[in-house]
Amino acid sequence: MTDLFSKFDPLIQQREDLLATGVTDPFSLVMERVVSPTVAICNGRETILLGTYNYMGMTFDEDVIAAGKDALDKFGSGTTGSRVLNGTYQGHKECEEALKEFYAMDHAMVFSTGYQANLGIISTIAGKGDYVILDIDSHASIYDGCAMGNAEIVAFRHNDVEALEKRLKRLPPEAGKLVVLEGVYSMLGDIAPLKEMIRVSKENGAMVLVDEAHSMGFIGEHGRGVAEAQGVMDDVDFIIGTFSKSVGTVGGFCVSNHPKFEILRLVCRPYVFTASLPPSVVATAATSIRKLMHGSNKRAHLWENSKTLHKGLRDLGFTLGTEEPQSAIIAVIMPDLEKGAMMWEALLEEGLYVNLARPPATPAGMTLLRCSLCAEHSSEQVGEILGRFERAGKRVGIIG
Ligand SMILES: Cc1ncc(COP(=O)(O)O)c(C=O)c1O
Repeated sequence: MTDLFSKFDPLIQQREDLLATGVTDPFSLVMERVVSPTVAICNGRETILLGTYNYMGMTFDEDVIAAGKDALDKFGSGTTGSRVLNGTYQGHKECEEALKEFYAMDHAMVFSTGYQANLGIISTIAGKGDYVILDIDSHASIYDGCAMGNAEIVAFRHNDVEALEKRLKRLPPEAGKLVVLEGVYSMLGDIAPLKEMIRVSKENGAMVLVDEAHSMGFIGEHGRGVAEAQGVMDDVDFIIGTFSKSVGTVGGFCVSNHPKFEILRLVCRPYVFTASLPPSVVATAATSIRKLMHGSNKRAHLWENSKTLHKGLRDLGFTLGTEEPQSAIIAVIMPDLEKGAMMWEALLEEGLYVNLARPPATPAGMTLLRCSLCAEHSSEQVGEILGRFERAGKRVGIIG
């Protein structure tokens, strides 16, 4: 019998080698208590959180929590069914109404996660004989959506408009084409040149899907994302998003103005063949989305935090993923996995949590410490964060 697990041996070995250096396992941290959107107790000590996707700090918003508790009392703990059978409650419709209003779009479809939204929409709308053209650094859920469908997949170099145009021009003019882009790329925190990319996509007869997971709530005047910030909302055919980041709960969605969009509720398998979100979750999501519509002060503060942290880290001598701050994510590049894990642990000992990211999640084989800021981080906390980076960086030998 062939052991089906033998294919994991290199990874098991790599993990054992890393732990043999004495470093704490960076992928099994437990948040013992969460005090606020920016502070938790980890290993018994108070820790500043700089590695969550809680960009707008909505997880402890009073109205959001009250809406969740009320729905739990009135509708119970779960729907126990698919959206197309017994799993559509009033709360799911209200959540979709909130999304339509937030994006000023005609249609909204709520999925159980953002992962399933990408899986479902991409695999369903791009079929046999069609083409999906995607950025090579796309999120796993986009790749998995491609793998689940029957379309031909064409990747192009990250954020390279010319490469996208070249690929498009090589495809049969009459074939169906879906260009898939992200507003913010979550590993380096860089944004896409959506305006140019959408222009070449449209010139070559392609529909465009933009995953705005990491920009919703924060980027753009109304927090609609990078497409809004670059003035191209009207040219995007589908926006994918998640409730697990700025919205502060769990769930995913797609919004669109396509006149035939509603048919997807009957043909999209990751929508049909799974249970719908619990009533408390859609109630918290709807309340949070409505509050995000009025979040301009928080957006401004988050930009300040991002600029201060980016400049501070660069001045300390760290190598960063972008020249300028482009989003709420600031990636600090590490020389290798071992040094990255040591730095991650040193920061944790200082009372600071960041994400350690490594291949295959990261591009070009990089190890990085991903810092994601929150609108609820105070200016004092950002100052503290820089002090902790300086001490840890000198101790590990990443900076001089
Ligand atoms: C770009 C992107 N799309 C989709 C998702 C999936 O979101 P969810 O956590 O709701 O499954 C993520 C999650 O990290 C993401 O980064």
